[in-house]
Amino acid sequence: MSKQAIGIFDSGVGGTSIWKELYQLLPYEKTIYLADSINAPYGPKGKQAIIDLSIKNTELLLEKNCKLIVVACNTATTNAISLLRKKYTIPFIGIEPAIKPAALNSKTKAIGILATKGTLTSKLFHTTTSLYSNGIRIIEQEGEGIVELIEKGKINSLEMTLLLKTYLKPMQEANIDYLVLGCTHYPYLIPQFIKLLPKHVKIIDSGEAVAKQTKAVLKKEQLINDLAKKNDPLFYTNGNPDVMKSLLNNTFNINYLDF
Ligand code: DGL
Repeated sequence: MSKQAIGIFDSGVGGTSIWKELYQLLPYEKTIYLADSINAPYGPKGKQAIIDLSIKNTELLLEKNCKLIVVACNTATTNAISLLRKKYTIPFIGIEPAIKPAALNSKTKAIGILATKGTLTSKLFHTTTSLYSNGIRIIEQEGEGIVELIEKGKINSLEMTLLLKTYLKPMQEANIDYLVLGCTHYPYLIPQFIKLLPKHVKIIDSGEAVAKQTKAVLKKEQLINDLAKKNDPLFYTNGNPDVMKSLLNNTFNINYLDF
């Protein structure tokens, strides 16, 4: 079983930011990535629809014989991972906004969190924030429209800059010193956040933590691929392969798949 692939899915191309961390930390693992771009964004769809889409993606990855699945989407994790864990026997790794380190290290006692509506309104998100919100002001901001622009390949557009300026304004007014990225699409905007925010604001995402957690679970379950040989990753999208290709620096083939 250890030679089987790690499956990764997201509502679109954003989870490739997590795939990059996984590929760096676990270079000998086979990986299969599914971008459900045709259904992006998941955020506004409501819990049941997000669960149904997560099941659809999981079934496809299981057909491809994956040994573990990384839910590389905050919205799908916060809304569906507990159900996936109950329904299937393989391990699932999820991603959640890194509120804990931001809240524990904040000096201004104000942190910003940018995420989708589906994440911000989820029960899991509320449980986590209530654990760390003591004495800390958490400025929650829905990143409406950002995922759509990234899916269209408009990362560096004027539209994007205007949206980001609007979303960051209340955070700057509250004097945040941490910006937590609560969506796997957002790490692609880090160069823009750096330009728009004061220098002392630290930007954190959960990509590296997810890769480390995946490695720990593979080890624990004795699922690490012990063949020291690089495998070409497989990427599937039901959207425009060119957008994904450019996010991966045109290095890999992206396959169109109708799913
Ligand atoms: N990449 C997804 C996430 O991390 C995008 C959210 C969505 O599709 O709404 O939440």
